Amino acid sequence: MTLDELKKAVGWAALKYIRPGTIVGVGTGSTTAHFINILASLKHKIEGVISSSEASSKKFQSLGIPLFDLNEMESLDVYIDSADEINSKMQMIKGGGAALTREKVIAAVARKFICIIDSSKLVKVLGAFPLPVEVIPMARAWVSRELVRLGGSPVYRQGVVTDNSNIILDVHNLAIIDAVALEETINNIPGVVTVGLFARRVADVVLISNEQGIKIID
Ligand code: 5RP
Repeated sequence: MTLDELKKAVGWAALKYIRPGTIVGVGTGSTTAHFINILASLKHKIEGVISSSEASSKKFQSLGIPLFDLNEMESLDVYIDSADEINSKMQMIKGGGAALTREKVIAAVARKFICIIDSSKLVKVLGAFPLPVEVIPMARAWVSRELVRLGGSPVYRQGVVTDNSNIILDVHNLAIIDAVALEETINNIPGVVTVGLFARRVADVVLISNEQGIKIID
C-alpha cells in the first residue's frame, strides 16, 4: 500500500466515531484531506463541521459541507485530526501544516479527540520531527533566543504566515522527555501563541493504519 492509501484507509476507519446529526471538528493536513473527502459521502447525515484552518474550510465549502463557528457552540462531540508524531502516552507533535493553534483550541473543546495516523507517525520519544511554535512576528528573534536557551535549534519557516497572521519557528534537536513540562515552558515565553506539543490534551483514541489493517488504541 502507498502512504496515500494508508492515509485514506485510516480516514474511512474514523467514520464510525461520528454520530448522525452532530457537528464534527476536523483538522488540517494530507491525512485529514482524505478524511474530508470521505466525510462528504456522509454529508447529509451530519449537521456540519468546525474547521481548524482556512485550507480545510475551502475544501468543506467546495464539497458543500456546512461550516459552523466554534463561538456558537457550547460543546463538541468529536475532533478528528492527524499528527506529525505520537508516543505511547498519546502525546503528540502537531503543526506541520501550521494550523496548530486552531487545532489545539478545537481539541480542547471536543469531548473526544480521534487521532488518525499511518504507522510512520508512531515514536518512542517525541522530537525527531521539528517542534512547530506559532509566534507573533515582532517576537521572532526573542523567542528564538529563548528556544536556544532550552536546548533547541529554531528555524524560521520562511514564507509561511499562519491563519492568525503569525509566523512559525520549527525547533530542531529536542528529545522531549517531559512533554507536559516543555509544553508549559514554551507556552509561557512572551510572544508565543501556541506550541505544537499536545501533552496535556492528548488523543483519546488513536487509529493507526499499516499494511495489516487498522489498529485501535483506546
Ligand atoms: C497540521 C497538523 C497535521 O495533523 C500534521 O501536520 C499531520 O499532517 P499529515 O496528515 O499531512 O501528515 O498538525 O497543522
